[in-house]
Amino acid sequence: MNSAKITDFTARNRLFGGNRMKLGVMAFNCSHGSTITTVPEAWSLDWDSTLDVAKEVDRSGMEAILPVGRWRGYGGPSDFNSAAYESFTWASALGASTRYVTVLATCHVPLVHPLMVAKMSSTIDHVTKGRFALNIVCGWFKNEFDMFGAVMRPHDDRYKYATEWLDFLKRAWTQSDEFDFKSENFDAQAVWSQPKPIQTPHPPVMNAGGSPAAQDFTTRNCDMNFVHLKDRANLETGRREIAQLKERARLHGNQTRVWVHVYVVCRETEKEAKDYLHHYVHEKGDWEAASNLLRIFGLQSASYDPKTLQDHKAHFIAGHGGYPLVGTAEQIAEELGKLADIGVDGCLISWVDYKNELRQWNAEVLPLLVQSGLRQPFAHR
Ligand SMILES: Cc1cc2nc3c(=O)[nH]c(=O)nc-3n(C[C@H](O)[C@H](O)[C@H](O)COP(=O)(O)O)c2cc1C
Repeated sequence: MNSAKITDFTARNRLFGGNRMKLGVMAFNCSHGSTITTVPEAWSLDWDSTLDVAKEVDRSGMEAILPVGRWRGYGGPSDFNSAAYESFTWASALGASTRYVTVLATCHVPLVHPLMVAKMSSTIDHVTKGRFALNIVCGWFKNEFDMFGAVMRPHDDRYKYATEWLDFLKRAWTQSDEFDFKSENFDAQAVWSQPKPIQTPHPPVMNAGGSPAAQDFTTRNCDMNFVHLKDRANLETGRREIAQLKERARLHGNQTRVWVHVYVVCRETEKEAKDYLHHYVHEKGDWEAASNLLRIFGLQSASYDPKTLQDHKAHFIAGHGGYPLVGTAEQIAEELGKLADIGVDGCLISWVDYKNELRQWNAEVLPLLVQSGLRQPFAHR
């Protein structure tokens, strides 16, 4: 971060400038976070611990905290994700308790009206003095939609709807006088939304989704794409995909940044890290909840041979399909350098035990990232 920007902690400034590898912490608004395991140290949701983690992230100078949008869990002995704080109210409370970090809310496009989102996000942007960003998801978990009595549209139609929804939201964020909004799915008259967000033209928008339709939508309409690196064995595939995505955004006159989910197991030796991964996945993993999740997610299909499916399952248990950073602090710092080299702009981290592993991360990994030039030292006000 250059000196001119040190006092500017708005989301637009921090998510798009400064550090070569931006960082955040995700999914601690849900019981078990992103880890489908029965180990006792897994994240059990409570507010005091949530606040502790958010404040610790804030002090560390990392850029973001991101909740997942989750309305029900997946069963199994761990009852994975069965409790989840609602993401806008979570973001508002944590925004009021922090000073530097960008707070995101994750919103299911078909489940919340854009005017409601305009107001909630403006409120959080005021509470945080411009540290709010919106992550949108089109949804895939039908059991959640059934609770709302909401329709799950055919896959690509979800992004057509999202385009109208986001157009409406951006108008409400930016247009100061009344307006009518008519589209295939909306017919709103004399729309009024005040106050406007602090950030101009509006808070940054991220989309989490990786299909061609999601990419088309993101590169036309969003500031960030939140993705999984599908080919974990070969980063060159990721490099190509990220370059294509960014080029596509450029052709649409946009500059889309790419963020990925990573799960971290950092120990003094590589063997200890791998042993612990094995313990919480293979000895204590909740394979039943993972099967429920993957069945609904559509991975349990004839197109996957059993071995691939098994690999996916272990990987979802380990960190919900994120990219693994497993090893010593030095190995993890090196791997983050490789991710930056292929064009990843930011990583959102999950751990088994957020509180203790975050402390270790701040003490052992962050300094190495400063040494290697991936990040600047963080200057508090
Ligand atoms: C990194 C990442 C994070 C996601 N987070 C959520 C979430 O919090 N809630 C949710 O319902 N779906 C989430 N999704 C699912 C996507 O919103 C989307 O429904 C899914 O990727 C399928 O859509 P697609 O086929 O267009 O990629 C996430 C997806 C990715 C890649």
